[in-house]
Amino acid sequence: MAITPKWLENAIFYQVYPQSFKDTDGDGIGNIDGITEKLPYIKKLGCNAVWINPCFVSPFGDAGYDVADYCTIAPRYGTNDDMKRLFEKAHELDMHILLDLVPGHTSVEHEWFKKSMQAEKNEYTDRYVWTDSVWEEPQGMGCIRGISDRDGSCAVNFFSHQPALNYGYYKCERPWQQPMEADGPRATLEAIKDVMRFWLSMGCDGFRVDMAGSLVKNDVDGKGNIALWQNVRGFLDKEYPEAALISEWGEPDKSLAGGFHMDFLLHFGPSHYNDLFRCAEPFFSPNGKGDASLFVEKYCESRSKTGGMGLICIPSGNHDMDRLARSIQGVDLKIAFAFLLTMPGVPFIYYGDEIGMRYVEGLTSVEGGYGRTGSRSPMQWDATKNAGFSNADEDRLYIPLDGSADRPTVEAQMSDENSLWNEIRRLTELRKAHKALQNGSGIEFVYAKKNAYPLAYLRMCGDEIILVVINPSDKEVSLPCLYRPKQTLYSIGVPVSKDGASLLVSARSAGAYLV
Ligand code: NOJ
Repeated sequence: MAITPKWLENAIFYQVYPQSFKDTDGDGIGNIDGITEKLPYIKKLGCNAVWINPCFVSPFGDAGYDVADYCTIAPRYGTNDDMKRLFEKAHELDMHILLDLVPGHTSVEHEWFKKSMQAEKNEYTDRYVWTDSVWEEPQGMGCIRGISDRDGSCAVNFFSHQPALNYGYYKCERPWQQPMEADGPRATLEAIKDVMRFWLSMGCDGFRVDMAGSLVKNDVDGKGNIALWQNVRGFLDKEYPEAALISEWGEPDKSLAGGFHMDFLLHFGPSHYNDLFRCAEPFFSPNGKGDASLFVEKYCESRSKTGGMGLICIPSGNHDMDRLARSIQGVDLKIAFAFLLTMPGVPFIYYGDEIGMRYVEGLTSVEGGYGRTGSRSPMQWDATKNAGFSNADEDRLYIPLDGSADRPTVEAQMSDENSLWNEIRRLTELRKAHKALQNGSGIEFVYAKKNAYPLAYLRMCGDEIILVVINPSDKEVSLPCLYRPKQTLYSIGVPVSKDGASLLVSARSAGAYLV
């Protein structure tokens, strides 16, 4: 399948949470220069693209997902010039950078909201979703009310300090609800396009889009949101055809119909992502009771709805989920990565997952993280002060480090051939060396039965067909399969062997075979 932009064909992403990645100026919080410094590291792991969580001016009530100025880097991370240098350095290394676009809401401190709160009509009166009386709350949504002279309640999208920008209603049911075509909603969309223009013209390669499927309200089937993103796609095709877009939507058929190149499967939504990694009996745990069949069923349904086009992305984790290592450890993590890096779509590795960084238990919430805070702790680089994350005094770190004596570090794992880090590097190399394993190549499931192991699928491109067999369970299993491996390309544990009409798959193993 031809993919545009072409660089997405073999992109492997690394997600950087800027607060916690690398602090180069000793203030206890990560910064843009820290990311620039570590680009060669990310490349060595085999990733050639980076998604950075929001790093714009913000009161940080939701770790930056409450933007106060879309076009200025928050001083704690550096300057716009630092970001420009990051883009340049990435391109020199043949890497790409996606910023995080938060189009659904702003912070209450954004100038647009301050003007929108005024009682007198002005350019920003319709920039947010307001009811026409402070006594009427928007149905089904939280709201801000009683904090300004404007007589109305303003809908919020997430926390109660994140007022919802107005892209209109698909079906208007109250007088204050505006259709998508009204002047206010259209002006909001144009303003967000200007934000995209601003960063793209500086060298940014595209965006991860926050809550992309929820901009247009009262849009049960997603038709309004699909139309809105098709409009954005039209603008990008004309002005920045190389810009990549990935949505936080969780419903690939809708997102891709809207013109996104990629959509994430998430810990919420219909994908059954949690069945694999994050539930009481995940598929990737050794006790052999997990179930991947519902995930596969939904995955196949999404692929067929999108006509096999477009990229469905299965992340190793993100800043909203529990760390992968909270539910699976050791060789099971390696097996999980063997799956993540042999599936179609663009792989996304959350910073620190490559060394099995742990969820840090018992932390007090930082900047609206609440239970998510434990997945956002500082990157563990080495055995020096603060694990090499920062020179600041320990009590000034943005989030406390994993305090365990045996916390994993990049330095230790890079020098250990048997580490998770080196397993992932081998897997990224394997993926790059074989067209059949790359992002747009086909997949056919060979075995994905309810509460049964292994999981087996074929990846193919032209004449190259690769059989992938994944058995996280602690039991040897038999795989009814007509395909016979001709060559082992990769394996964790003992590779499969012939057993009459079936293949014998050893316990806790994963393998990729030319057939
Ligand atoms: C999804 C983001 O990933 C999350 O961190 C944020 O809190 C909400 N959207 C609100 O923007």
